[in-house]
Amino acid sequence: MSTVVIPASRTYEVQIADRLPADTGERVRTAVPGAARAAILADDTVWSLYGQELEDRLAGAGLTVFRHVFPHGEASKNASVYIGILEWLSRCRIDRQDVLLALGGGVTGDLGGFAAATYLRGIDYIQVPTTLLAMVDSSVGGKTAIDLSAGKNLAGAFWQPSLVLCGCAALDTLPRETLADGCAEVVKYGVLCDPELFLHLEERGLDFDRAWVVEHCVRDKQGFVSRDEFDRGARKLLNLGHTLGHALEQRSGFTLSHGRGVSVGMAAVTRAAAARGWCPAELPGRLERLLEKLELPVRSHWPTEELEEFMLADKKWSGSRVDVVVPEELGRCGIRPMDRRELMDFMEAGCRG
Ligand code: NAD
Ligand code: GLY
Repeated sequence: MSTVVIPASRTYEVQIADRLPADTGERVRTAVPGAARAAILADDTVWSLYGQELEDRLAGAGLTVFRHVFPHGEASKNASVYIGILEWLSRCRIDRQDVLLALGGGVTGDLGGFAAATYLRGIDYIQVPTTLLAMVDSSVGGKTAIDLSAGKNLAGAFWQPSLVLCGCAALDTLPRETLADGCAEVVKYGVLCDPELFLHLEERGLDFDRAWVVEHCVRDKQGFVSRDEFDRGARKLLNLGHTLGHALEQRSGFTLSHGRGVSVGMAAVTRAAAARGWCPAELPGRLERLLEKLELPVRSHWPTEELEEFMLADKKWSGSRVDVVVPEELGRCGIRPMDRRELMDFMEAGCRG
């Protein structure tokens, strides 16, 4: 077991182990000492794999356990599923001493975190991530959200968990393409700040060392979150590839996953950056080779103009400009504010190049 401490408005531990420890219930009690009730949120797939095990461990520690299961997939990250969760919490009489556990991928973590942030004006919650994406990114840092019809993650809150419990063995039941999705976020840390991680994936591909990679990424993310919890400066760098990525996800009607969108987005901004001389000419080729080795796409199927309305709905706009994260070399990126025309020219260069 390794532990990474995240210093933020609420300081908490990310505990990384092979399996969920036998004393998970006691760990939950330590993190949320007053809790008498534990409310587990999971999607149907994750519940059938890991729900009962978690429920038994919590009940074994004397907690009264409730469960709420929703259909898997990004389409559930919406206002009506969110309201359903709030209604369920109130039916279970969950109070401010109690705890919600988000067991699953980023969809469950984002939904559960937003429900925890807003139910009774805020209750404790614990992230129990089961996808690679959730272990390395979404469970850490307190960003919670649901999607609106105008765009992804448009309603949300910063609300830090009280504990994150990663059992890396859960990655063994992930479909290969979902594991690859998570690798897009791992590659992102490599490009942003961690060439050693990038090299590890170049050598190992999808056969990477699970716990080593999760811990590296969590430490990388800790660096961004501890410097800028509320996303006003350094944390914006974590959006590498996301402006185009989110637009692709939406244009596809969410048939393209988050990780695949980010993969295409990173490849495109790196090609555009190299074309302008902002990063070494060989970086786009090296990045594309790695993404393809990880079975991720590097090209968009849609013309850039069909993505424009979605990129304009991105929440990173401030007035007439949006912050675009641009690679400068392997392990270093910068932020370039662009207006609408500059953004479209830049993305067009990246998608064409
Ligand atoms: P997801 O939660 O939909 O999980 C992907 C699929 O894997 C689901 O069908 C799920 O049922 C299944 N699954 C989960 N764990 C499994 C396991 N161990 N074995 C078998 N199947 C399993 O999606 P995701 O890719 O984990 O997360 C994507 C979401 O995360 C997006 O909504 C994205 O916006 C969000 N996100 C949030 C942040 C943040 O900081 N809050 C960061 C990145 C992404
Ligand atoms: N995934 C982006 C962030 O946490 O800031």
